[in-house]
Amino acid sequence: MVFRKKSKIIGIDIGSSSIKVIQLSDNNGGYTLSRFGMAPLAPEMIVDGTIMDSVRCVETLQNLLKDQSISTKDAVISLSGHSVIVKRVSLPQMTEDELAESIKWEAEQYIPFDINDVNTDFQILNTFVDPDGKPQMNVLLAVVKKDKITEYTSLVIEAGLRPVIVDIDSFALENMYGINYEVKEGETVALINIGASLTNINILQKGMFAFTRDVSIGGNKYTESIQKDLGLSYENAERAKKGESVEGVDSFALDSVVESVSGEIVNEITRSFGYFKTASGNEKIDKIMLSGGSSKIKGMDNFLQQRLDLPIEIVNPFRKIEIPPEFDSNYIRDIAPLTAVAVGLGIRRLNDK
Ligand SMILES: Nc1ncnc2c1ncn2[C@@H]1O[C@H](COP(=O)(O)OP(=O)(O)OP(=O)(O)O)[C@@H](O)[C@H]1O
Ligand SMILES: [Mg+2]
Repeated sequence: MVFRKKSKIIGIDIGSSSIKVIQLSDNNGGYTLSRFGMAPLAPEMIVDGTIMDSVRCVETLQNLLKDQSISTKDAVISLSGHSVIVKRVSLPQMTEDELAESIKWEAEQYIPFDINDVNTDFQILNTFVDPDGKPQMNVLLAVVKKDKITEYTSLVIEAGLRPVIVDIDSFALENMYGINYEVKEGETVALINIGASLTNINILQKGMFAFTRDVSIGGNKYTESIQKDLGLSYENAERAKKGESVEGVDSFALDSVVESVSGEIVNEITRSFGYFKTASGNEKIDKIMLSGGSSKIKGMDNFLQQRLDLPIEIVNPFRKIEIPPEFDSNYIRDIAPLTAVAVGLGIRRLNDK
């Protein structure tokens, strides 16, 4: 057995609109921010989760590491979207070793991909006895397409790093939530992360994974619709969306485009909540915790609160993380909603599951 010092690790969230890097140091059971940086990616560099221009992505990541003086090589990255499937399934009770042997065959029936094209992982959540008296267990099954893992790990390797963990956005969000917020008895929380090309919807029951779904809609849809309906360039549409004043923009028309895209996002959330309710025997959701860059769309929280009729709170991924004074606290507060996945990656350590 090799004993090694608890090594440093960097979390890298490769989103379609920007790369975020973070390093958190352990501090008496908590965490202190030691490095953070973010670099934008042009919209054509990663499209719908596919790396279209790996050369520029590698360059962007390398510059970001240099700017932040990050010398650590071990990196955690994460994947999301079409190439990832996460499901809670019930199986007959067996040991972890037995499940490890059979997981491939168990997984096969739940996935639309060839089993040889995916990596599978699992976690036994709990055991129970079904109405027929048979011992069963709930298992969290995670399946990721191998070619997607290769695509993203290659980027990181080319930037000179070692990808030691490949995580999944929804697990990262869950971990981020777990270190920052107390789980209330019996509470069911929906973590909703609205990014640029994707919205991750995750439901936690008593702090435990219950449901997740990634839908292909996010901030890009606002920008594209504003661009089209208001006849603006991409850059101006992006600025108008962020509330900056852009010449010739009719604020009434802008609000109406924004509201219509928000309505589409609400429909996807409602659909996901419906799936969860059907699968869980009509469990109710108590509140929504919102993150992702598009949670900063003006009035987004009120809109969701009204349309979904649930209390809503914007997540602060740094809520329990110590921020040393050398960081600009206004900047950190401003970008906090965009760091939800990155923080969840930054708290991963080499030998945790
Ligand atoms: N102040 C703001 N107002 C409105 N939208 C914003 C604001 N700041 C950022 N955004 C939008 O948030 C999105 C980026 O969010 P985030 O960083 O969470 O996405 P990502 O991780 O890059 O993308 P994805 O995970 O979908 O691939 C972009 O669409 C951006 O335009
Ligand atoms: Mg993202």
